[in-house]
Amino acid sequence: MRIDIISIVPQLLESPFQHSILKRAREKGLLDLHVCDLRNFGLGKNKQVDDYQYGGGAGMVMMIEPLYEAISSLKQKRDYDEIIYLTPDGERLDQKMANALSLKQNLMLICGHYKGIDERLREHVVTREISIGDYVLSGGELAAAVLVDALGRLIPGVLNDESSALSDSFQDGMLAPAVYTRPAEFLGWKVPDILLSGHEAKIEDWRDKNAISRTRRKRPDLLKE
Ligand code: ADE
Repeated sequence: MRIDIISIVPQLLESPFQHSILKRAREKGLLDLHVCDLRNFGLGKNKQVDDYQYGGGAGMVMMIEPLYEAISSLKQKRDYDEIIYLTPDGERLDQKMANALSLKQNLMLICGHYKGIDERLREHVVTREISIGDYVLSGGELAAAVLVDALGRLIPGVLNDESSALSDSFQDGMLAPAVYTRPAEFLGWKVPDILLSGHEAKIEDWRDKNAISRTRRKRPDLLKE
């Protein structure tokens, strides 16, 4: 999968993709990430990318021309399955959406700043709008990093143990069960006996029940769905 991210603060996107699973995905050639610096498409000698909003009011708006030029230059080289604008008023990101997006070939992500981008881009160019939650970040970069991480780890071949993504929380509409590792006892706190029994069917059953009771306790809304 190739992902192009358009940003005015490319530095914010340097570290998140250079470690751990996403680093491995890139090294394996499964995830090809590129950050496009919007400033390169800015207007005039100051490389302007934002302007006052029509009708007045506080806050700048990201101008249409630089973004349109940046998007067009990327589109000239390949077709994109989705052109995604990260915005708090978008569709809420969830595991189902991450699963679906992880199967795409080419994605373009647009990171907003200030009051957002000129509405005409949303009407005519953007194909999808995604929010990572009901709060406002100072820019779309951290939201883009969250989205790339959530779907990058799902790209077939990225995780060594393929089944481990399937047993994540939310994959079956429930939270994942509790997990333990050595030692079997610490400060008198014990790992449930069943997990040490080696009895696969009973362990599976324990995990199912644990997942259900955890979900009922922590996220009853998921069970209603
Ligand atoms: N940009 C600012 N806040 C955001 C959010 N919550 N989700 C996605 N993009 C954003």
